[in-house]
Amino acid sequence: MKNNRKTTKPPKDYQNAIDRNPLEFYISEKTPKYGPKRPFIVFYDDPQHSVRLLKGNCIEILNQARENSVDMIFADPPYFLSNGGITCHAGKMVSVNKGKWDKSMGVEENHKFTLEWLKACQRVLKPNGTIWVSGTTHIIYSVGFAMQQLGYKILNDIIWYKRNAPPNLSCRYFTHSTEIVLWAAKNEKSKHYFNYQLMKKINQGKQMRNVWEISPPSAEEKRFGKHPTQKPVALLNRIILASTREGDLVLDPFCGSSTTGVAAVLCDRKYVGIELEDEYLTLSVKRLKDAIVKRGTKLFAIEELVAL
Ligand SMILES: C[S@@+](CC[C@H](N)C(=O)[O-])C[C@H]1O[C@@H](n2cnc3c(N)ncnc32)[C@H](O)[C@@H]1O
Repeated sequence: MKNNRKTTKPPKDYQNAIDRNPLEFYISEKTPKYGPKRPFIVFYDDPQHSVRLLKGNCIEILNQARENSVDMIFADPPYFLSNGGITCHAGKMVSVNKGKWDKSMGVEENHKFTLEWLKACQRVLKPNGTIWVSGTTHIIYSVGFAMQQLGYKILNDIIWYKRNAPPNLSCRYFTHSTEIVLWAAKNEKSKHYFNYQLMKKINQGKQMRNVWEISPPSAEEKRFGKHPTQKPVALLNRIILASTREGDLVLDPFCGSSTTGVAAVLCDRKYVGIELEDEYLTLSVKRLKDAIVKRGTKLFAIEELVAL
């Protein structure tokens, strides 16, 4: 009997095209490990503006991605703080519940998870690539320890200070008003990129220090909908401008509403975001499309980007 099934041969130049296009970083078609079922779907793809969103578990996706293909990673992982505590939101006492993804699995399981995704990120980073990871006390020590275990080279710990932090309702602690952002290079041999002059310029000609005062996201940044742990675009603009060149590929493995992607578009970098939840991917698409239109109509001055 004749077999009518079409075999789709990859075009001749396929592997070369993958090698040339860093946005194809996740494809390892030479030796696909995932068989006929990919561990992700491409949720949004805009090759013209070098933006792509993948839906799936970042560890699975990164473990099958091409090695040494990403210039910079920003990761805002689950902080594991949605465990029945209370906080103050808009002047009211509310329970901390960011989502199922933010529930603690216990100290050891949490650390295992941190090690796993950090290892997956390290593999895809280019030899001179760097990673930024944000966190509070709940996870940042585990992140720092995991980085040391994996042989990352820690470059800086940035203290992100939020002037308008909500008050501490229990009055038994100092008011939490900071987050830490660790910056690390792939390994000890890496020759990381740092735009020292630009950082000095935007800091009125003085060396920039590791304490950054940046306000939480404005209402304008949430006009397409809210993510419970949305980061301010100004923070990501500064990170991207400090550690990447125009045209570099920036990856966010826990992209949420794609604040990293918005900043990447505004700063003319390529972007790949990975996220589990449809709701946040849909919000990401709206924000990314808006950023693409904004960028299309205007070339932002550096000062404007860091103060956005
Ligand atoms: C802290 S939030 C990131 C918020 C983001 N920085 C923003 O500005 O919108 C973490 C996100 O990671 C997603 N997430 C959790 N575990 C994941 C996993 N294993 N793979 C991919 N995404 C994951 C959650 O759904 C959540 O949206």
